[in-house]
Amino acid sequence: MGSLKNEKEMEETVEESKEAILYVNGVRKVLPDGLAHLTLLEYLRGVGLTGTKLGCGEGGCGACTVMISHYDRKLRKCVHYAVNACLAPLYSVEGMHVITVEGVGNHKRGLHPIQESLARSHGSQCGFCTPGFIMSLYALLRSSQTPPTEEQIEESLAGNLCRCTGYRPIVDAFRVFAKTSDVLYADISSLSLQEDEFVCPSTGKPCSCGSKTVNDIDTNGQIICSASYKPISYSEIDGSTYTDKELIFPPELLLRKLTPLNLSGLGGLKWHRPLTVKHVLELKEKYPNAKLLIGNTEVGIEMRLKKMQYKVLISVSHVPELNMLNVKEDGIEIGAAVRLTELLNLFREVVTQRPAHETSACKAFIEQLKWFAGTQIKNVASVGGNVCTASPISDLNPLWMAARAKFQIINFSGNIRTTLAENFFLDYRKVDLVADEILLSIFLPWTRPFEYVKEFKQAHRRDDDIAIVNAGMRVCLEEIGEEWVVSDASVAYGGVAPRSLGAIKTKEFLIGKKWNQHVLQGALNVLRADIELKEDAPGGMVEFRKSLTLSFFFKFFLWVSHQIEGKKSIKESLSSSHLSAIKSFHRPPLVASQDYDIKKHGTSVGLPEVHLSSKLQVTGEAEYTDDTAMPPNGLHAALVLSKKPHARILSIDDSGAKSSPGFAGSFFAKDVPGSNKIGPVVLDEELFASEFVTCVGQVIGVVVADTHENAKLGAAKVHVEYEELPAILSIEDAVSAKSFHPNSQKILRKGDVELCFQSDQCDMIIEGKVQVGGQEHFYLEPQSSLVWTMDGGNEVHMISSTQVGFTDEGKVLALDLQIYNNGGNSLDLSLAVVERAMFHSDNVYEIPHVRIFGSVCFTNFPSNTAFRGFGGPQGMLIAENWIQRIALELKKSPEEIREINFQGEGSILHYGQRLEYCTLAQMWNELKSACDFLKVREEVNEFNLHNQWKKRGVAMIPTKFGISFTTKFMNQAGALVNVYTDGTVLVTHGGVEMGQGLHTKVAQVAASAFNISLSSVFISETSTDKVPNASPTAASASSDMYAAAVLDACKQIKARMEPIASQRNFSSFAELATACYLERIDLSAHGFYITPDIGFDWSIGKGKPFNYFTYGAAFAEVEIDTLTGDFHTRTANIFMDLGYSLNPAIDVGQVEGAFIQGLGWVALEELKWGDAAHKWIRPGCLYTCGPGSYKIPSLNDIPFKFSVSLLKGHPNVKAIHSSKAVGEPPFFLASAVLFAIKDAIIAARAETGHTEWFPLDNPATPERIRMACLDEFTAPFISSDFHPKLSV
Ligand SMILES: Cc1cc2nc3c(=O)[nH]c(=O)nc-3n(C[C@H](O)[C@H](O)[C@H](O)COP(=O)(O)OP(=O)(O)OC[C@H]3O[C@@H](n4cnc5c(N)ncnc54)[C@H](O)[C@@H]3O)c2cc1C
Ligand code: FES
Ligand code: FES
Repeated sequence: MGSLKNEKEMEETVEESKEAILYVNGVRKVLPDGLAHLTLLEYLRGVGLTGTKLGCGEGGCGACTVMISHYDRKLRKCVHYAVNACLAPLYSVEGMHVITVEGVGNHKRGLHPIQESLARSHGSQCGFCTPGFIMSLYALLRSSQTPPTEEQIEESLAGNLCRCTGYRPIVDAFRVFAKTSDVLYADISSLSLQEDEFVCPSTGKPCSCGSKTVNDIDTNGQIICSASYKPISYSEIDGSTYTDKELIFPPELLLRKLTPLNLSGLGGLKWHRPLTVKHVLELKEKYPNAKLLIGNTEVGIEMRLKKMQYKVLISVSHVPELNMLNVKEDGIEIGAAVRLTELLNLFREVVTQRPAHETSACKAFIEQLKWFAGTQIKNVASVGGNVCTASPISDLNPLWMAARAKFQIINFSGNIRTTLAENFFLDYRKVDLVADEILLSIFLPWTRPFEYVKEFKQAHRRDDDIAIVNAGMRVCLEEIGEEWVVSDASVAYGGVAPRSLGAIKTKEFLIGKKWNQHVLQGALNVLRADIELKEDAPGGMVEFRKSLTLSFFFKFFLWVSHQIEGKKSIKESLSSSHLSAIKSFHRPPLVASQDYDIKKHGTSVGLPEVHLSSKLQVTGEAEYTDDTAMPPNGLHAALVLSKKPHARILSIDDSGAKSSPGFAGSFFAKDVPGSNKIGPVVLDEELFASEFVTCVGQVIGVVVADTHENAKLGAAKVHVEYEELPAILSIEDAVSAKSFHPNSQKILRKGDVELCFQSDQCDMIIEGKVQVGGQEHFYLEPQSSLVWTMDGGNEVHMISSTQVGFTDEGKVLALDLQIYNNGGNSLDLSLAVVERAMFHSDNVYEIPHVRIFGSVCFTNFPSNTAFRGFGGPQGMLIAENWIQRIALELKKSPEEIREINFQGEGSILHYGQRLEYCTLAQMWNELKSACDFLKVREEVNEFNLHNQWKKRGVAMIPTKFGISFTTKFMNQAGALVNVYTDGTVLVTHGGVEMGQGLHTKVAQVAASAFNISLSSVFISETSTDKVPNASPTAASASSDMYAAAVLDACKQIKARMEPIASQRNFSSFAELATACYLERIDLSAHGFYITPDIGFDWSIGKGKPFNYFTYGAAFAEVEIDTLTGDFHTRTANIFMDLGYSLNPAIDVGQVEGAFIQGLGWVALEELKWGDAAHKWIRPGCLYTCGPGSYKIPSLNDIPFKFSVSLLKGHPNVKAIHSSKAVGEPPFFLASAVLFAIKDAIIAARAETGHTEWFPLDNPATPERIRMACLDEFTAPFISSDFHPKLSV
């Protein structure tokens, strides 16, 4: 930005650059030679800008988002866009301005309105994703000349993941910048705008950057945001004034002419930046194996994750011939280096300008690009990069093929040849380019009248995910007599072969045929033979993928028929029920509500105070372990990991590592002084494997070197020789081999199950199996200590077999349950997990006779550990499965069965505990009326009646979660409170703040205890030198316990102060503290708390393991696409009983975050292991090990309507200030989504006469949803009892 000259003036003043430079946050940096191996992220973090985070390093999480600004000579304006710094090569931003979160605003100078808004809206918890979100919105606002719409804001965040918040508060914080609200921070009327000003969408200040009358308009009439803003007061926010201006675009970069670059990096890497295609070809001739580079979103992944070695990189982003974008009479010419965002913008423009029939293909591309990666990737990834990578799941290549695109190819001599896209893809990542050729451009012809092009894609997750199957289809119809006849056609698929595949026989079949039901049936038959997928095809899901090929074609047929309907003589009109197959997904702006009472206690308790760390998090100033500077001479370590699931170690040879650069040492089992045995509860693991390895990824040793890269290099050079042994790779294998962890079998009993089953009390007995897949913690912050490690294994896998007896009314009488938990290769916390699953497997239901066995299986997978809920959700899920099954058997609604089996006040649970203060029924009834359940049920039935291919489903699910560690001794907490003479209070306690707001709540308790403001209370980081022997921060009980321990210390100090305080009135707490100090009163106290009256005796299976229960209930309504398995949640309505909340805003954040994490568990997140079900994965290896293949919920997955209500008027007598624990209890409520999906599937199956019960494993991914909706498209590939594979 800055002051811009017009184009002519500029051309006169441009200067040749003499050195490689970069501006970072307005500061000029010279880029020395030798750094070609660095990413922008490594560079930024290396120079101390650690606000930009390293999450995944593969473009999948958005934590590393920064904004790039450069002067685009083609557009003659400054362009601003977000990129993933982890994939951007450092030299790719030469001559550009990089703005990081530090350049946006900071704690001392003042927060930017975006940061302020996010902090105040409780939009950060752990805060690791936060800078990335800030930068994505910042870039959107800086690049928008008018405020964006809410939809654009949500779209711009597609490449940013958050594991904590559930996204709702982020959307709420950001939507104040949308078009609908120009009251950004202050009331607009108070801004006293001048005539030519509007409210800048970026700063919220009056600005002329969007006005048509500003002076800084270039010769083309382009409006350039260049004016300096007039600062205004933000007094409505926090009284502070944000006086800083936005960072301007450095004038030097405006005047500077780009020059070719020839730089180098580690290992002899060469980096070239040619500026003409001629130069590109010369370089290619000189270095035939050189890689062309634009976005580096493929090459970066290949070099960093797949360890491919390229020696010469040619960055062609600035070559004008490769960046052409010409709208011509017969179509569009697209240079190979054109970025996908640019292409999308052009398509969007042409569809408004050209006749509709010409742009059918453009519209298909627009739709496909909408679901292509995140914004940051699309901003840099190129068309040519996508084409030439020739990925078999490329989203665009099937469309180029279908749309008759032609590729222009240029060789070293400058000769250009043209080939059809249809003929370009030869084999796996092999294209029709010889060594001396590169792709120059793509020509996309306009579509002709009655020519229709359509895109298809089904992925695990709708947003930012690679396809399972995608397709491009086209027909050109001609009206002959009274019929429509196919004059031309093309059908191409991705994800069904090693390359994008044309369905040639189908195409041939279609041409010349009349467009009617016969051609549909005929084409489907030919298609089945056209697409071949072998049983063990890489990627698995073979039946699903085959079904999708037919489903897509069916959709295409309906869509085309709909297009021509009414136009001319179409004989068969579509039934309105069929139209449901072609209605595309549209996400309306989020509607969310949070309803709670504020029960204030003292100065702070009960208030919705903002998370204490939020301001540091939104500015990137919060320091994580990975941000800590290495001490001088610090060394890095990398682990040597087992490659086998079960093997004897025959030898370890580290000679390769020893001669590796920077090597400092290597350590193995033999080098461990003292015991090599470790484990959190039972010492059943080895620090370094000595004789045997029992899983892939087990640590065998460690290599230490001067840099992280060198340590990894060294570790990779350690050669381990194995003798492979048989591996146990599933719960079923473990059960049949009786492979259990020692002393891990438990039993709970109530009544007499056998007798009940044998008696005639039970009208019906059902037997079944529930399988629950594991879940990754997937926190965004990498696992770091001062030594950076990479490790995996954070899951709970569960399988259970159940027998339930019940009456004709649906009253459950007896439950016989066996629960098997996949513990992996060590016990870790799995016993506690299975125990909690056993305790919770009644969920909220009264069962007179219960028998539950629990076992932890030993398998050759990395050890599994606890997730949010510690096994409780898995236990409750089993209960809800048999409830749902009883309902189906009795043809009643599951909600009815739930209600008649509810526990209530005084119920004696299967482990002997008596229910007290049970609020279940009240909450259930409030939820039922809040969501108007019966009415919605009817509406859903009505919808299903009229929509054959889309079905809706509803469910209401209750929960009861026991609060306390089930291991009694862990229920203790310590704290240290110091009062200073200036009236401030320093609190240290044994709990760990991980974003859940524990420190904030604890500080509120201290503030209220001393009757001082929250700003006078400080929390010192958890440290064992202040509070020893802390229990894990887990079991949802930390606020209860640590706040109580802090209150205990505060009370002690207050008691000591009391004699002084009662002497006279003190004007402030500081004055009182000083007076006490002068009287030699100890103003420091250690507080302690133990949870009273709990205990459990496993030898008799009876006791009181829990202090109290947190209750909740949720309603969900979903819609599924029965042809593809796509689903979305229309509504989620959650009620929680949290007593008198210590901080309702933080608690609502916990509820929302847990629900969305739970939604990932029930419907998205699937771990795929190399086991008998997944032969295409190496045995014992995890395939889904990063954001590319493991899909946690994105913003697009949250419910359209998302409401949270906290039950009012029910203080909890069992915990501090009448509050209740919140962290884990809401997680299970997301199963309302699972059961709503099942409800929708039941409706779909009923249409093909399948009314029998069927299992739906957790997670209900698109594959499971689609394959359960039996119809004519699944029939050729599966029988009605088909069960998609699941790693358990
Ligand atoms: C997080 C993430 C999400 C993604 N999501 C999707 C998705 O949803 N759908 C999808 O289809 N893809 C996806 N991709 C893949 C990738 O983004 C695209 O394929 C992208 O278009 C590649 O472009 P690029 O400019 O980054 O390629 P680069 O990495 O710069 O180059 C890729 C390859 O193309 C070659 N090449 C480039 N230009 C030419 C030319 N003119 N002539 C000859 N060879 C050339 C290069 O030599 C190199 O081998 C994703 C990738 C990531 C990292
Ligand atoms: S760290 Fe760059 S996207 Fe995850
Ligand atoms: S706050 Fe988003 S990942 Fe933690």
